[in-house]
Amino acid sequence: MYKLIAFDAYGTLFDVYSMGQLAEEIFPGHGQAFALMWRDRQIEYTRLVTMSDPTPSGSKYYLPFWELTILSLRYVCKRMGLNLTPQYEKQLMDQYSKLTGFEDSLSVLKTIKEKGLSTAILSNGSKEMLSTVVDSNGLKPYLDKVVTVEDVRLFKTAPQAYELLLKAFPVTKAEILFISSNAWDALAAKWYGFDVFWVNRLGHPFEEIGEKPNYEGASLTHVLDVI
Ligand code: LAC
Repeated sequence: MYKLIAFDAYGTLFDVYSMGQLAEEIFPGHGQAFALMWRDRQIEYTRLVTMSDPTPSGSKYYLPFWELTILSLRYVCKRMGLNLTPQYEKQLMDQYSKLTGFEDSLSVLKTIKEKGLSTAILSNGSKEMLSTVVDSNGLKPYLDKVVTVEDVRLFKTAPQAYELLLKAFPVTKAEILFISSNAWDALAAKWYGFDVFWVNRLGHPFEEIGEKPNYEGASLTHVLDVI
């Protein structure tokens, strides 16, 4: 049985695509495309940093996720020809820092804690941004630890990033259930050796390479069926 239920943060507990609504107000007609491209470029930068210097002591190109998020925002605005004023940038990043959780994030964490299991976040996010978003959503009482790749300076999907969970909790790989809505993250965690639950809210196909997740559900609530 699982002893630790570990969650990805952005996209899994917190709704990154809700940024599209604010973006639509700021850049009418471009909100959706902008939000998608911003997210893709942000993840692209994490991969670039990690793969270009995957040394166990961390990448020399490492920048905190918060900074990569700002830099990818600037890139996407230039690429799409959108005028990102300092005020718009602040507005978007302020909202990013306090992203809303999905409607079941809090209740699912609470139920898992009531079952006596350990809970954690394992995220690419930087410490400060994670602490802000966890607090603003009231999740702190239901999380034993917020684990961030800042400690290894290599982003997921580096194995060293997933390994952080084994260092943070006295559990074996087999006792961890890892939950992500990002298929690439779910796949890499599976490759690393965790059992995985893929939250597929949008009914997307899973990745064509690698192994399928152990479980799949349309919302976080379905996680409760398997623990
Ligand atoms: C996270 C992003 C990648 O690690 O979803 O929270």
